[in-house]
Amino acid sequence: MLQLLFVGLAALAGLAGGGCRPESPAARLARELKGAIAERAKPTGTVRTFDIEAAPAELPLIEGGKLRVWAYNGRVPGPELRIRLGDTLRVRFTNRLPQPTTIHWHGVRVPNAMDGVPHVTQPPVEPGGSFTYEFTPKDAGTFWFHPHVRSSEQVERGLYGVLIVEDPTPPPYARDVVWVLDDWLLDETRQVFDRFNTPHDLMHDGRWGNFVTVNGRTDTTLAARGGERIRLRLLNASNGRIYAPEFAGLDPQIIAVDGLYLARPIPLGRFELAPGNRLDLDITMPAAPASRSLAVVDQFYAERPNHLADVVIDGTGPRAPSFASPARARVPSWSTGLQIPVTKEFRIDARRGGDYGIEWTFNGVAFAGHEHHGPPMLTLERGGWVRLRFVNDSFRLHPIHLHGTFFRLLARNGVPVDEPFFRDTVLMHSKETIDIGLVPLDAGKWMMHCHILEHAEAGMMMLFEVRG
Ligand code: C2O
Ligand code: CU
Repeated sequence: MLQLLFVGLAALAGLAGGGCRPESPAARLARELKGAIAERAKPTGTVRTFDIEAAPAELPLIEGGKLRVWAYNGRVPGPELRIRLGDTLRVRFTNRLPQPTTIHWHGVRVPNAMDGVPHVTQPPVEPGGSFTYEFTPKDAGTFWFHPHVRSSEQVERGLYGVLIVEDPTPPPYARDVVWVLDDWLLDETRQVFDRFNTPHDLMHDGRWGNFVTVNGRTDTTLAARGGERIRLRLLNASNGRIYAPEFAGLDPQIIAVDGLYLARPIPLGRFELAPGNRLDLDITMPAAPASRSLAVVDQFYAERPNHLADVVIDGTGPRAPSFASPARARVPSWSTGLQIPVTKEFRIDARRGGDYGIEWTFNGVAFAGHEHHGPPMLTLERGGWVRLRFVNDSFRLHPIHLHGTFFRLLARNGVPVDEPFFRDTVLMHSKETIDIGLVPLDAGKWMMHCHILEHAEAGMMMLFEVRG
């Protein structure tokens, strides 16, 4: 009788495969991640070497005028690094800027020492100095790179580039196109306004510019043929601006968010592309478009739309091969995660003080800068399921970004959310509470911060450690 009762309870609790101890709900959620996200890199032995130099440059980016920028290899966006999953990326980096810098590989699960966080994972690269980054990505997808030193200035001046890790067999899109979205705050001489982290930026949603560019220009056009099936990768490299791109006359399907494929393609709808976020779209060009030229417009603030680019459809191309959407990843639902207690809650707010007069805090703590960082605010065990809660006590926007791990959004204001994808950055709205779930798979000391770079610079940044 007792034995029968035990069997019954064990069945209710769910048994770990083969074991006789009941499996905890958190252990079950952690197990569901198996096979969804690679635990380790599988290097094929191919090494792809790139040389990158950061230096001041003058480029005809906006209205043909000479804009003084800081650039990787003399271009904004910097060079597009395109490798295959399994390739080892080697970047020989040289700093020709008047400031120290580093390269951080946003969204890439790198060995901790390659994460580009000054004073935490490496010394900053001094002017004239160099550093070699070398790692084998574990995931295919759209990633990017940017400095992690004075990012609110260095990224704003033009330092960013895209890293594409292609699938071992890339799906046969007619074309694979990248659009990097950025905005620029220019002064009356049409140069980058050279005061950074102003009280205005800090009290609001960071630095929003007066010119929006796609791939560093204001007149980007995607020339396509009717019937063509194109993969369009979007990246928001802005300091603070959020975009909700709308493709009138087209029907884009989201196939990947922040690099990783979705469980199934979903229509674009309204997607808020916050700083740091990437979005891969699958677009089949209509054979008989309503108009030859279709505008792509940012509708984040419907009353202040921004023209981003145009899609121009000319004639019909050879019929695109029809193939299944690559968005068929295994994404555990984790809907039962909301029954598991919150591992740690972070409250976010601003206050007077700090180097800029206003500082942004996690639980009342402002990050003292990379060089003076204290102990991690959170320690996690590798492989354990974790639920984090962020409570926005402020009226501002905060895209929360974690290094070294993907996570899933579980709830907004306590209402369950079941996005069929992982993220590395999620936008938190004014006064909103969000819950995220994750299983850290990569040991090390990682950063968690707001990707509004002015908020991060003014303290909204912390270290967390993954042990094991
Ligand atoms: Cu793009 Cu620390 O981040
Ligand atoms: Cu913020």
